[in-house]
Amino acid sequence: MFKVDITRPDGFTYTIREFRLEDLERVIWINRTCLPENYPAYFFIEHHRSFPKAFLVAEVGGEVMGYIMCRVELGFSFFKKATLVRKGHVISLAVRPEVRRRGIATHLMMYAMKHMKEYYGAKEYYLEVRVSNTPAISLYKKLGFQIINVIKGYYHDGEDAYLMAKPAEE
Ligand code: COA
Repeated sequence: MFKVDITRPDGFTYTIREFRLEDLERVIWINRTCLPENYPAYFFIEHHRSFPKAFLVAEVGGEVMGYIMCRVELGFSFFKKATLVRKGHVISLAVRPEVRRRGIATHLMMYAMKHMKEYYGAKEYYLEVRVSNTPAISLYKKLGFQIINVIKGYYHDGEDAYLMAKPAEE
């Protein structure tokens, strides 16, 4: 079972570990309080069953405060013409406001990407993000993602999405 402890220079400590079923209620609560895109419990359970190494949580002082849920799909590469590849798709990521700007999302992303590559053979990663979501767009750019496309009216309220992608490091 994957688990790593991270301590910042200022002493703030958190743990990144695999999601467990007993985290479900808390993760659903974080999802509902942090994002307009909400899902039924079975959606989380299915992702955990199919890609357990790519569903991670961040714990601060024994409480789950953030999560990332991903899946790996076969599809056409964003970078190599007419080539089918396994693509790691970030489905949902959120960190509670009380503990933001401490690198938690960065570490959730880094370990989820590492696991999608090592366990599920992902050659690239992609995600959708609201065009107005400046914090998330900055985070993804910092991690090496680039904007590939705009998906018009992607969200239920009509907002457009950026499709952002990044090749997995060799
Ligand atoms: N404004 C500008 N840049 C921001 C930012 C903000 N509010 N929050 C994060 N970033 C960028 C910065 O470049 C930051 O590095 P820095 O703190 O050294 O400047 C970098 O992202 C890494 O931030 P990190 O501390 O790892 O992110 P986080 O743990 O605060 O979580 C989100 C970032 C986006 C996950 C969090 O704000 C969140 O849960 N938002 C609501 C849900 C959401 O939008 N999810 C993504 C949907 S696609």
